[in-house]
Amino acid sequence: MTETNYQILLKSRPVGWVSEENFEYAAGEMPAPGPGEILVRNKFMSLDPYMRGRMNEGKSYVPPFAVGEVLEAGVVGEVIVSNNDDYAVGDHVTGRLGWENYSKSDGQGLMKVDPDLAPLSWYLGILGMPGMTAYVGLMSIGQPKEGETLFVSAASGAVGSVVGQLGKIMGLRVVGCAGEDSKVAWLTDELGFDAAFNYKTCGPVYKKLRELCPEGIDINFENVGGEILEAALWQMNDFGRIIMCGLISAYNDKEPAPGPRGMALIVQRRLKMQGFIVFDHQDLCREYMAKAAGWVKEGKLKYRETITDGLENAPRAFIGLLKGENFGKQIVKLD
Ligand SMILES: NC(=O)c1ccc[n+]([C@@H]2O[C@H](COP(=O)([O-])OP(=O)(O)OC[C@H]3O[C@@H](n4cnc5c(N)ncnc54)[C@H](OP(=O)(O)O)[C@@H]3O)[C@@H](O)[C@H]2O)c1
Repeated sequence: MTETNYQILLKSRPVGWVSEENFEYAAGEMPAPGPGEILVRNKFMSLDPYMRGRMNEGKSYVPPFAVGEVLEAGVVGEVIVSNNDDYAVGDHVTGRLGWENYSKSDGQGLMKVDPDLAPLSWYLGILGMPGMTAYVGLMSIGQPKEGETLFVSAASGAVGSVVGQLGKIMGLRVVGCAGEDSKVAWLTDELGFDAAFNYKTCGPVYKKLRELCPEGIDINFENVGGEILEAALWQMNDFGRIIMCGLISAYNDKEPAPGPRGMALIVQRRLKMQGFIVFDHQDLCREYMAKAAGWVKEGKLKYRETITDGLENAPRAFIGLLKGENFGKQIVKLD
């Protein structure tokens, strides 16, 4: 356990692919909590694809990271000093804090978590934002009906792996794709997907989808975009739903790529294509949290994470995440 508050700051904005030069690892000041504030020793930190967007300048649903400032992340930690009646020393909390060993907070936006219910890092994955994202997208836009076919891309990732398993709980036929054979095997052998394929080695993705979804796709949970989205679009059934969760294949593009070919299909087949941001759906997030712990306990939701040791290795792990080097939820262990 470090006594120094090491931090990672945004040194410069990436142009195209992010590199380790865009980050700075430095020994910062130990935060001094004032009246009403707490000091949190951060134990686990989440790395997420949306962080790449926040490294760019420009308007989005969250403000960009500032150059020269500590980056922000989902964190789980332990309260070690408290000047706030809502938190006691020894409480474990999760929320948006810094890429750093110690953070101070006024407690707003933090949530207490139970370390006896699940390993602490799980509150950043299956019992946290990625799990909620899977549930929110599937329920609010997907509106699944038993027997329908669901296709999910980046299916072995933090969000995709939950999407597929929720699909099975809801009685759907579930097909997924991932970028490594070991990930594909995990989807079918461990998570109960009906079929899965490696999008890097399968040949044309639309042909593979035609083969594995012979009755078409009713719900496409889109995490990737590009060729995979285009291929799914052409296999959609009438009145299908395309859940626009993320487009990770484009996050390092210098210029926005043209949209998928076949947009006329949206009209012809009366498709619904809708984006969402998980935090706009607090009711569904709470509903998921109430159900997820039970599903985990019953073995209906399985979980896998890649844990990188040490804050100093976070930039490398983040770049790896954007390249598919993570298997399941990417976490950084901080102490
Ligand atoms: N809308 C929201 O509120 C919300 C919230 C959270 C996340 N998201 C989005 O959900 C998606 C998944 O996030 P996550 O946290 O679950 O990430 P993740 O799946 O744990 O990690 C990203 C994965 O994406 C895959 N990938 C990367 N580049 C790719 C490419 N060019 N083509 C195909 N696959 C590629 C890689 O796996 P492979 O080995 O399979 O290539 C990589 O492991 C992202 O698009 C993210 O931005 C949206």
